[in-house]
Amino acid sequence: MDKEQARKRIEVLTQEINQHNHNYYVLSSPVISDYDFDMLLEELILLEKEYPEFLLPDSPSQRVGGEITKEFNQVNHANPMLSLANTYSEEELRDFDKRVQKLLNDDYTYVCELKYDGVSISLIYENGLLARAVTRGDGVKGDDVTTNVKTIRSIPIRLKGDYPQNFEIRGEIFIPIDKFKAFNEERISAGEEPFANPRNSASGSLKMQDSAEVAKRPLDCFQYYLLGEKLPYDNHYDNLLKAKEWGFNIPPYLAKCKNINEVLEFIAEWDKNKEHLPFEIDGVVIKVNDYQQQHDLGATAKSPRWAIAYKFKAERVSTRLNSIAFQVGRTGAITPVANLEPVQLAGTIVKRASLHNADIIKNLDVRTGDIVFVEKGGEIIPKIVGVDKTQRKDETKEFSFIEKCPECQTTLIRKEGEAHHYCPNDKNCPPQIKGRLTHFISRNAMNIDSLGEGKIEILVDNGLVYNVADLYDLTYDRLLGLEKIIEATEDKKEKKLSFKEKTVTNILDGLKESLNTPFEKVLFALGIRFVGQTVAKKLANHYKSIENLQRVNFDELFLVDEVGERIADSVVTFFKDPLNIEIIRRLKQIGLKFKVENENLNISDKLAGKTIVASGRLENFSREEIKSAIEVNGGKPASSVSGKTDFLLAGENIGPNKLAKAKELNIPIISEKEFLEMIK
Ligand code: IVH
Repeated sequence: MDKEQARKRIEVLTQEINQHNHNYYVLSSPVISDYDFDMLLEELILLEKEYPEFLLPDSPSQRVGGEITKEFNQVNHANPMLSLANTYSEEELRDFDKRVQKLLNDDYTYVCELKYDGVSISLIYENGLLARAVTRGDGVKGDDVTTNVKTIRSIPIRLKGDYPQNFEIRGEIFIPIDKFKAFNEERISAGEEPFANPRNSASGSLKMQDSAEVAKRPLDCFQYYLLGEKLPYDNHYDNLLKAKEWGFNIPPYLAKCKNINEVLEFIAEWDKNKEHLPFEIDGVVIKVNDYQQQHDLGATAKSPRWAIAYKFKAERVSTRLNSIAFQVGRTGAITPVANLEPVQLAGTIVKRASLHNADIIKNLDVRTGDIVFVEKGGEIIPKIVGVDKTQRKDETKEFSFIEKCPECQTTLIRKEGEAHHYCPNDKNCPPQIKGRLTHFISRNAMNIDSLGEGKIEILVDNGLVYNVADLYDLTYDRLLGLEKIIEATEDKKEKKLSFKEKTVTNILDGLKESLNTPFEKVLFALGIRFVGQTVAKKLANHYKSIENLQRVNFDELFLVDEVGERIADSVVTFFKDPLNIEIIRRLKQIGLKFKVENENLNISDKLAGKTIVASGRLENFSREEIKSAIEVNGGKPASSVSGKTDFLLAGENIGPNKLAKAKELNIPIISEKEFLEMIK
């Protein structure tokens, strides 16, 4: 490819990928497979590396992040970011309407929208390009978080159509609930602390220094308010709809209301249906539609007089805090848990609530015996939102956080900048031992389902296993007859768990079968902190064997895609520990897989000189694997079909465009089976 061709290709790819991002993240209707998308992006990134002079300002490669911001620049807002007046009552809302009526003395229309529960952001567009993204800050000035915001795919970097040259649009950055749950699960399995709720997670993400990390967070954004001299219409509603044409993610949940009764209907409908939304909301925002009328109504120092937020009442009850217990996690993190006098809340009986960490306890100033307020908002776990101090007895003392691990009595530590206290006794603290073992056998790791948390507990309590290698030393005789009484709970009777013949055989069979688990899963199962499933896969594919991985140093690791400072540091530390080295030595001897097996790969020159485009989902290969399968057999993998393509390898769900192009150019289309034949 010559220089001019490269420039053109970069241009085409930039535009095409931006459109695919919009199709996927804003319109929710992708037209190509994820695989094909990744291939296009990869091609663009490679070309941009080779020809940095052609990198375009709206390049979608910015979505992947990579830039590090040590300190965010503070910038003044062009228009102060006011907040909205809040109300929880119909009466106050009617008062608001009466004030509007009186001040305007004319007809008016409201626009009702949902109140998205995230973090607000101001986006500045200049000549159709996202120039700056600034957090609310104190309303007058905020942090410039442009690099991080560019990783959010539903925020356009370049606009389409007849947009004004300069304007500002505001919106809310949030994390959809299902993505938040999956993200937290991934964090837990990588030994990280889960976030308390999507809102905190979104706001924490925006302030991260490494934009590549931000890119991995499932952030989304809705836009809901435009500001500018030359907006196309004289009212909020029409401009919002117009902004959608420019590529913005304007939420569909909005309605024009002629009077306050229609507003109340909108509120009632969403109060009832909010549980079905895929994201969290905490109310409804009501805005006067007409700009002239907004101007006439003006603003107080804090908030505009033309808008108000109606907040839904979160269901709240009060109950007694009986005690605060402390749980020790797999990584040694200590989580305080409130034991409550059981109370009915939003259809369930609540007995416990997480108190998260020492700072939260301190800020709430909760004390044992207090009457506390418990709420269940959109959040999954109920939370304590306050203390009824009027009911507090005089003699209670401020709660002091424990200093020793409740399980092994080791003095706790708290690293700078971390919210949690930790028990540093990772080798001998029972919940940490059990946590590591439970992680090892879990579904996405070694998948030994004949062992579960309860059985692991029995094995550890009976002194049969301390580490994951010990599991493979278990014998029939040692296991038979082991038992444990599971304590009776209110809803369940006392249960005795004992190992009978069938259980024991299943456990031993399960362990034997686990020897077939591929290397990437074994690596994940080892429980190296911050090495989740994705990173384990990356490392396995990159280094191919545990020996290679054990040998690398921090600097080399840091260069691997997906591996940041924290992960690199954790991997190096893990392999420095003699106990870990000994466990791996034993596991190797037992026969666990510690290298990548590519049965399908037959190193040859059977594809020499052939350019192959693989597209669609393949049964036997991941994206990385098919590329290397082509390469090790002498071929050249490519991402788009052109005159130079020799074969199109068509997987499941291959995009129609690629097929059509191949047919047009008379390029042979082969199946995965045919490909396997070719390299056999
Ligand atoms: S309009 C001047 N619309 O609620 C009016 N705000 O306290 C600008 N919010 O800071 C805000 N959903 O973060 C508006 N549909 C919506 C909103 C919304 C959520 C947030 C926003 C703002 C806060 C108001």
